[in-house]
Amino acid sequence: MDNGTRPGRGFTLWFTGLSGAGKTTITDIVEKELRDGSVPVEVLDGDIVRTNLSKGLGFSREDRDTNVLRIGFVADLLTRNGVGVIVSAISPYKEVRDQVRRNIGDFVEVFVDCPVEVCAERDVKGLYARAYAGEIKEFTGVSDPYEPPVSPELTLKTDEESPEESARRVLDTLVELGYLDMAEEYNRA
Ligand code: ADX
Repeated sequence: MDNGTRPGRGFTLWFTGLSGAGKTTITDIVEKELRDGSVPVEVLDGDIVRTNLSKGLGFSREDRDTNVLRIGFVADLLTRNGVGVIVSAISPYKEVRDQVRRNIGDFVEVFVDCPVEVCAERDVKGLYARAYAGEIKEFTGVSDPYEPPVSPELTLKTDEESPEESARRVLDTLVELGYLDMAEEYNRA
């Protein structure tokens, strides 16, 4: 389906936020929209990367930073080859996110902002219940830190807007930043 999106420069769209904030849900919608617009897309999702490239890593600061740097390394290779890379990873530490931003350059940071109480209420994977019960240690937002971005390109309040609205704002941001050339009919859709 042609929805008017057109390929442009490569970019890394980096979703950071708590588990259950909505990163994957929004990623899925944005990925589909970009593919429908014939933009070459690759998705690097923390949960999936941890089953292969980062297999064996845990959730200490060091291991999370290693995971994020590995994701950033692959994202950089793809970005410079014109791919639209979507990263979905908690990536809780600002310093290493900023390092990846500097390496990649074409980096669009999206803060998927949702109060931990709401994420815990959703508890899509049942992990918050286990974290509050002390069964999972170092759980982000419960017993481990999350450092919010200071000046992300976009902040999504997923307890106040629908996934479709959020995805739409992401696509608009990519257009504004010159990564997508969006036909007018799409903007009115
Ligand atoms: S990151 O911190 O290194 O960026 P990543 O996004 O790859 O994390 O993986 C997070 C996913 O691992 C969560 O969505 C959740 O399913 C799972 N997980 C398991 N243990 C933890 C934990 N202690 N803290 C956060 N997420 C965890």
